[in-house]
Amino acid sequence: MRTHTDAHDLRHHGDAEVRDADLTDLAVNVRAGTPPAWLRERIAGSLAGVAAYPDGRAARAAIARRHGLPVERVLLTAGAAEAFVLLARALTVRHPLVVHPQFTEPEAALRDAGHEVARLLLREENGFRLDPAAVPDAADLVMIGNPTNPTSVLHPAADLAELARPGRLLVVDEAFMDAVPDEPEALAARTDVPGLVVLRSLTKTWGLAGLRIGYVLAEPETVEALERAQPLWPVSTPALAAAEACMEPAALKEAEQAAHLLATERAHLLAGLAEFEEVRVVAAAEATFVLVHVRRGAEVRERLRGLGFAARRGDTFPGLGPGWLRLAVRDRVTTNRFLQALDQALAMVGD
Ligand SMILES: Cc1ncc(COP(=O)(O)O)c(C=O)c1O
Repeated sequence: MRTHTDAHDLRHHGDAEVRDADLTDLAVNVRAGTPPAWLRERIAGSLAGVAAYPDGRAARAAIARRHGLPVERVLLTAGAAEAFVLLARALTVRHPLVVHPQFTEPEAALRDAGHEVARLLLREENGFRLDPAAVPDAADLVMIGNPTNPTSVLHPAADLAELARPGRLLVVDEAFMDAVPDEPEALAARTDVPGLVVLRSLTKTWGLAGLRIGYVLAEPETVEALERAQPLWPVSTPALAAAEACMEPAALKEAEQAAHLLATERAHLLAGLAEFEEVRVVAAAEATFVLVHVRRGAEVRERLRGLGFAARRGDTFPGLGPGWLRLAVRDRVTTNRFLQALDQALAMVGD
């Protein structure tokens, strides 16, 4: 394995923080109360057809329609996670660069495919914002998340588009974009940005982490190259049924309403966190989580576990240290309980 070349365990994910533990989950960013009943029914209804091999045409067309794109620009994948591996294995890339801190799996996949991966570390002093000029010209694949996990920063679409140039793949992971009301900084529907590859996931908003369904939006030649690297039938019939259902107008409306509610709940969490002078918050949060810094973060996290709450450790993200914790936005009651627990945890740890 090439994924432990430095202090960061790139293969640590939030699910490890809640596995086999009876804790309130602030570590995994899947929307609470999902999948909704109507979606479970659609998935269950698809089981009658599982004797046949999956036929992805309808789901692919539905995704293309939702983004106003031709079907040739759409590739269905077993979650965004499959797309990271396909990108790492199938494309001719010499100088990949990952903008950190961000979800670590893309870098892990690139390293496992034999690439040397350069990193651009965004800094807290700059609000973890990207300066497009800081990306070296030599990078022929640039990987960035928008909004970014774990900083929750939403980069302006114009800044990202500025990174595009001939001979470069610009990969934008929009796994959390559908949690941003109206998606103002989305690049998904753009066809005028050369080398653009957008990744989307249905995991978070729809509570489908266990089903494995996501998609890639890219130039047809890139889609073809990635498709050739896929095994046959990579997306199951129930996952295809879910993808089709989640593209329907009523589903899009539900996602939009959830995004607006999330913004209110996040404002409540941020206001509560602002009361703690021991806590530094990345306040420009636009995703389903917020990133905070506390002194003696590992101890605070342990104390929180003792009080029944799982927070995501931040120290496995390149560019972050042990003081950082990522907290999922939850409903007001859960957040209030959490803020009380945080107060206690901080008091226990002391100065
Ligand atoms: C930023 C980001 N992208 C992609 C993924 C993977 O999504 P999927 O479940 O679609 O593979 C995750 C999962 O945590 C994520 O945080």
